Amino acid sequence: MRAAKIIGLGKYLPSRRLTNKDLEKIVDTSDEWITTRTGIKERRIAKEGESASMLAYKASQEALKRAGLTPDELDLIIVATITPDMNFPSTACFLQKHLKAVNASCFDLSAACAGFVYAAVTAWQYIASGLYDNILIVGSEVISSITDFKDRSTCVLFGDGAGAAVLTYSKTPGFISSDFGSDGFLSDILSVPGGGSQQPISQKVLDDRSHYIKMKGNELFRIAVRLMIQTAEISLKKAGLKTEDVSLFIPHQANKRIIDAVSKRLGIDSQKIFLNVDQYGNMSSASTAVALCEAWEKGMIKKDDIIVLDAFGGGLVWGSCVIKWT
Ligand code: UT7
Repeated sequence: MRAAKIIGLGKYLPSRRLTNKDLEKIVDTSDEWITTRTGIKERRIAKEGESASMLAYKASQEALKRAGLTPDELDLIIVATITPDMNFPSTACFLQKHLKAVNASCFDLSAACAGFVYAAVTAWQYIASGLYDNILIVGSEVISSITDFKDRSTCVLFGDGAGAAVLTYSKTPGFISSDFGSDGFLSDILSVPGGGSQQPISQKVLDDRSHYIKMKGNELFRIAVRLMIQTAEISLKKAGLKTEDVSLFIPHQANKRIIDAVSKRLGIDSQKIFLNVDQYGNMSSASTAVALCEAWEKGMIKKDDIIVLDAFGGGLVWGSCVIKWT
């Protein structure tokens, strides 16, 4: 089995900022409520025409440049998204076209907010098996396209953005361990019920606003804390490491209170936790991708550091992985 490592990271955030104060004018909410309940201050919103593949394109160009690879050297492109450009073709195929990555195979991966972690581990396995050498993975979301700006319980939480990483084979790991889990029995806690094959778009779907995110936030909060702790512990145990060995913990950025509860229970020092939920809100699959990129840009990741990515999302799905930075 070959080892795999990340050789380039990139991100793209749309320029338009939507602050808590802006939201006060749209729904019955307050900066105080959003800040204390979630830690979010603002989020980015894509312009009309800025689809998931366009955001992915900008993040990918940066990641490829930093990796020192040209698009034609890519063997595979995986885009994790719940807000694809279209039901089909895949957003990964649109990204291939934008990049002119003529030699790549492409597919999308659906694991909601855990999508980037799932994509990273999937890419690692393709490299480990020897099937592919150079893989681009992207978490890209235009969550504003499925956000109900009449529903204060969800519209304050989400934002748009994209993060990308280039993986290649390596002499030393790289990726050390991972853990995934799913519970389809809890699918109704967080979903977009309308617009798929179960309830195709119709006037009723539009009237019910069921083409937007529906969430049982309170229930999800408790489950998310439990599962994020559980999966991080399993990945660390598989890697033969303890929480004190962790150099940087990069959790899914859904809510600062969830992150605080998870890191406290895991016993990870607050200095070792990466946070940007205040600036971008929850960007689903793009959250861990952008967080990893920003941590690297800020010089918070050094050679031989132990990085833990940890995420959960609609499905329910959850997953984590341990990376030794090489
Ligand atoms: O990537 C995975 C996606 N989602 C998550 O991870 C979300 C997990 N859940 C959460 O982050 C939290 O549950 C929320 C931030 C969504 C909500 O916080 P909470 O402390 O669980 O609040 P709650 O749902 O229990 O609501 C408390 C009150 C309710 O009013 P009453 O019934 O007590 O009078 C809500 O109606 O807060 C009200 N409320 C709001 N008030 C002002 C709900 N949303 C808002 C709002 N502004 N935006």
